[in-house]
Amino acid sequence: MPLDTAAIRRQFPIFREEHPPIYLDSAAMGQKPANVIDAMDTYYRLAASNVHRGMYALADEATNRYEASRETVRAFIAAKHRDEIVFTKGATESINLVAKTWGKANLKKGDGVVLSILEHHSNIVPWLQLKEEIGISLRWIDMEEDGSLRMADIDAALKDGKAKLVSVTGLSNVLGTLPPLSDIIERAHRAHALTLIDASQLIAHRPIDVTELNCDFLAFSGHKLFGPTGIGVLYARSPLLSKIPPFLGGGGMVQRVTREEFLPADPPAKFEAGTPPIAEAIGLKAAIEWFTQYPWKDIEAHEHALLAHAIEKLKAIPSLRILGPASADEVAGCVSFTIEGVHPHDLTDILGRQGICLRAGHHCAQPLHERLDIGASTRLSVSLYNTPEEIDRCAEEIRRAIAKLKK
Ligand SMILES: Cc1ncc(COP(=O)(O)O)c(C=O)c1O
Repeated sequence: MPLDTAAIRRQFPIFREEHPPIYLDSAAMGQKPANVIDAMDTYYRLAASNVHRGMYALADEATNRYEASRETVRAFIAAKHRDEIVFTKGATESINLVAKTWGKANLKKGDGVVLSILEHHSNIVPWLQLKEEIGISLRWIDMEEDGSLRMADIDAALKDGKAKLVSVTGLSNVLGTLPPLSDIIERAHRAHALTLIDASQLIAHRPIDVTELNCDFLAFSGHKLFGPTGIGVLYARSPLLSKIPPFLGGGGMVQRVTREEFLPADPPAKFEAGTPPIAEAIGLKAAIEWFTQYPWKDIEAHEHALLAHAIEKLKAIPSLRILGPASADEVAGCVSFTIEGVHPHDLTDILGRQGICLRAGHHCAQPLHERLDIGASTRLSVSLYNTPEEIDRCAEEIRRAIAKLKK
């Protein structure tokens, strides 16, 4: 059934404003439906208490709400066990957790970590840090001109048996392309390498079943899924988390502490030192509940139609070049482009003054931009609350901006 965009938009306070923005930057952050804001507001007003410690009803209530969120996340990504879900600050922290705990404990000089050229800096820098600290080697999967990954590069990277992890995005935050995850995971496992999926973008555009995917780690942030900032998820296949040393040390992550030593708690508490993002976890639960009202096939169809429309409109603009496949059948969530003689920052500055929110720059994917031989691009990203009329207005204003900038 087609999504009722008008009804969806009414649930977002920002779109109920008299002059709402034309928000085409959901790849950077999703807007927030009222139920997410209300859930966090209720916790702060009526249930504020720390988790896992208090003996009184209010504390129990906070713990129950926090743990209920873990269960909602588990079900959303089809993990087998609740204990496989660790709450973090965001995808960046989730990936850093893996690099700085599993990575430090399991990788030695000369071992390989395989990355794709599509990666966000969050899935590059933690591994570069390990390269500096331990001397691991990074092995890169390049792409074809249409943005698809060169699968032969994966096999080459795994061939000598020294690669211990393949860490790839599930959806490029620049090109919108979707690497074939099942195939990549299978190849990695055949070579006895673990796999980490950066699902930061994928999480809001495609259903994820970690059990079926059979990935070892998966990371995402709540804020791209219409949830609050400051909350993310690390999924790790059981029993990996039991074998990994703790990340941060402090309260909540221990069973016992003496003056000489400490005994870590069982996962996931072992990785959730200190007071966790309680209101944010509650907000994330509300966001997932909001999101799952809509069947995936309707979300996908809506976004496909929006992207097809956007690509058609953009292609018709002279001197505009779409990066990647330029086909809605092969991308999800976003499309990026350059315009000859126009800097992306100048363009988005002009559009911004018209209330049109597009992102310009390297989108934290500098190696990809270097590979494309450009310094920056403009990204238009869509979500289930966008309309074709917004795309039309955006395309019209891009034409106007070009005329102004090229004058
Ligand atoms: C593909 C990808 N990975 C990782 C991140 C980092 O997410 P966060 O900044 O929420 O940790 C982003 C954010 O844009 C992203 O698009």
